[in-house]
Amino acid sequence: MVNHRQDSDSSVRLELLRALERQAGFVSGGRLGQLLRISRTAVWKHVNALRALGYRVESAPRRGYRLISCPASLNELEIRKRLHTRFLGREIHCLGSVPSTQDVAFKLAQAGAPEGTVVLAGEQSGGRGRLGRAFFSPAGGLWFSFILRPPLQPQLCLPISLLIGTAVSQAIRDTAGLPAMLKWPNDVLIGGRKVAGILAEIVAETDAVRFLVCGAGLNANIEARAFPPGLKNIATSIRAELGREVSAADLLCAVLESLERHYADFLKLGPRSVTEAWRRSPNMLGRQVKVAAADGPVEGTALDLDDSGALLVRGRDGQTARVVVGDVHLAAA
Ligand code: BTN
Repeated sequence: MVNHRQDSDSSVRLELLRALERQAGFVSGGRLGQLLRISRTAVWKHVNALRALGYRVESAPRRGYRLISCPASLNELEIRKRLHTRFLGREIHCLGSVPSTQDVAFKLAQAGAPEGTVVLAGEQSGGRGRLGRAFFSPAGGLWFSFILRPPLQPQLCLPISLLIGTAVSQAIRDTAGLPAMLKWPNDVLIGGRKVAGILAEIVAETDAVRFLVCGAGLNANIEARAFPPGLKNIATSIRAELGREVSAADLLCAVLESLERHYADFLKLGPRSVTEAWRRSPNMLGRQVKVAAADGPVEGTALDLDDSGALLVRGRDGQTARVVVGDVHLAAA
């Protein structure tokens, strides 16, 4: 259930923040009240709410208010300030520590939350990965889930997870300028190490999708030394690769904007738009692979994707295997 009071408070704070940001110096409480169509007392209350979120706002008698700095951590206002999507992230729940954003988003979806609802967490104590694995998700990363309700039959939804990987890898390249590449089905690697993973879970009847809960985990501002021993050689973070922090809000908005475009293309043009976008992104096609596939191991050259998003692998015997679900191991380049 959306709380309309909270929703409108958040919209007023966003307008207030924008008004303060437009002004290099002080702006009076009366002027802010006029702009926001609220009383000076309400302005004062909302300024205090901004302070509680970590914004430094100076106030001076007869001069008014002046914004000194915005918080480095992610909050709803920092996201709404930057986000240019039509539906994805228009409803956003920013949480502290949760077991898994997938579970929170799942409950919201079951209660009727609209398509595009995003759940974001500062950290996850029980982050879930593909194939029932645990997913390391400490503070500093970007961990979020979102709800999709595609008007499609369940078997046509396989490309959605590819589409998310494509959007995430593009956002990392655009925001951080790093050479993020795709490993089928949707891991994102930098220099052979995993920087992001995607999980898409579906709730469907035989012939109709009720909803998908899609999760993306990006190792954004995690220090290299924070990875546990088992991940040290196979995972990396944007911060470790760049040698500095990235803006998590910029990164999230870039992912959501790219996702919304790819999803709209998918619904309009069909699965081929997804596989074409995946192929156009830097990826592992052409590499030697070992695949732990559901119906046995497959070894050979990663040839291509078919229109449904399955991976085609040409073995030494010249036969082509079609892999729908599996884990890919890349041979050294
Ligand atoms: C994988 O690489 O195996 C998939 C990882 C998916 C992780 C994300 S983080 C946000 C969302 N919540 C979870 O518990 N998992 C997904």
